[in-house]
Amino acid sequence: MASHEANEKFVRVGPGTPMGELMRRYWQPIAAVGELDAQPLKPVRLMGEDLVLYKDHSGTYGLLELHCAHRRADLSYGIVEAHGLRCNYHGWLYDESGQCIAQPFEDLAHPELHFKERIKLQAYPVEAKSGLLWAYLGPSPAPLVPDWEPFSWEDGLVQLVFTEVPCNWFQGQENSIDPVHFEWLHTYWSREMRGRDGPEPPTHLKVGFDEFEYGFHYRRILEGMTEDNPLWTIGRTCLWPNALMTGDHFEWRVPIDDDHMLSVGWFFDAVAPGHEFPGEKRIFHWRSPLTDAGTGRWIQSHVMNQDFIAWVGQGQLADRTKEHLAASDAGIIMMRRKFEEQMEVVARGEDPKCTFRDPATNQRLPLPRAQQRGVPAIVEPRFPFLAGIPPEVEEIYRKVRATWNEPMVEPTRV
Ligand code: FES
Ligand SMILES: [Fe+2]
Repeated sequence: MASHEANEKFVRVGPGTPMGELMRRYWQPIAAVGELDAQPLKPVRLMGEDLVLYKDHSGTYGLLELHCAHRRADLSYGIVEAHGLRCNYHGWLYDESGQCIAQPFEDLAHPELHFKERIKLQAYPVEAKSGLLWAYLGPSPAPLVPDWEPFSWEDGLVQLVFTEVPCNWFQGQENSIDPVHFEWLHTYWSREMRGRDGPEPPTHLKVGFDEFEYGFHYRRILEGMTEDNPLWTIGRTCLWPNALMTGDHFEWRVPIDDDHMLSVGWFFDAVAPGHEFPGEKRIFHWRSPLTDAGTGRWIQSHVMNQDFIAWVGQGQLADRTKEHLAASDAGIIMMRRKFEEQMEVVARGEDPKCTFRDPATNQRLPLPRAQQRGVPAIVEPRFPFLAGIPPEVEEIYRKVRATWNEPMVEPTRV
C-alpha cells in the first residue's frame, strides 16, 4: 500500500503540485480536429485549469484562460473572428498568444492610453496531429508532439472517442499495466453476462513487466500458451506517461482535474491489403455515453466501459493507503516508482522521460505490436471497445472489418 503522502502526490494535478508539474511537460489530447471544424469554440478543463479552445477564421487554434480579462465573461461563448477570439460582452479581442488586440470602446475613447497592450490572458500552444488537437501547459520551449508510427497509417478507419470519467486519471493509468484484470473484468465477467456461454477464459499463469524507452511492456502467459507467443515475447505497451497502446489503438487518460479524467481513444481499423477504403471520410470522432439511460447504472457491455466501472469503483480518488498490492501488481509498483522518480527529475528542472525535441528523430516512432497490423486484438462483429458508436460510423466499421473476410463471431482473447 502507498502512504497518504505518496497517494496525494499521485493524484494532485493542479499547477505547482509535483504530478501537475510533471504532466505539464507533456502534450495532452483534448479534442478532435473535426470537432472544431464543426463548432469553433469549446470549453476545456485540463489539469484543474478552465480554458477555451477555439479555431479562428484564419485556421489558427488558440487555447486561452476561460474568463475575459475585462469583467470575466465566459469566452467559450465568444465570437471567432478572422484573427482571434472576441468576448461577446464588450467586444475585447484576443489573439492566440492571449494578447488583447482590440478594445472597441477604449480604442475610441482613449486611444492614447494603449490600454490593450497591457492586457494579456494566459495562453497555451495547440497542435493538430493524428486527427486530434493537443495542448501543452508546461514551460517554454515546448517539446514536440510525439509522432507515434500509427499516426502515419492511412489505409483504414480512425475513430476518436471521448468519454469524461468521474475519477482521477491515475486510476486509469494504473489499469494500463494490469494484464490480469483482462481475464476477470473483461473475459470472465462478459461470459457471465452472456449466461456463461462459451469456454471458461484461460487463466494467467505468468506476467512480466519491463521498462523501455517509451514506457513499459507488460507480458503474459495464459493457460495453453508457450513462451514464444507474441503476448509473452512482445506484450503490450503501457505508454508513458498516461496512455495504453495495444497494437492498433491508443487510450489516453487525460487529467481534467483531481477528480475527473477524459478518456481519449484513438482506434485504427485497417482495410485488408488490396481493398479500397469504403468511403471518402476516414477520421470520425464521437462521445461515448457512460450510463445506461434505462437503469441509470454504468454501461457494462463494452471493454472500456468495463474498465471505467473498475476505475470509478475505486472512488473518485482511490485511497491507496487501504489497498493490498499483490503479485499481479508488480507493474503498478514499477510504474509508481517511475512516476516518483520523474517528479523529482522535473523538480530539478530537467526534461522527463519521453520528451522529444529533435524533429529529425521524432518521426514515426515505432511501438511494439503483438499482432499483425489490421487484425484487431479483439474480434467481434460490433465495435467492442466503447458503447454508443454512431450508426454511420458503425456502417463503415463493418465494411472495413468485412474486407478481411473473416468470421467476425469468434472473440479473440488478449
Ligand atoms: S467582459 Fe469581456 S469584454 Fe467585457
Ligand atoms: Fe481493461
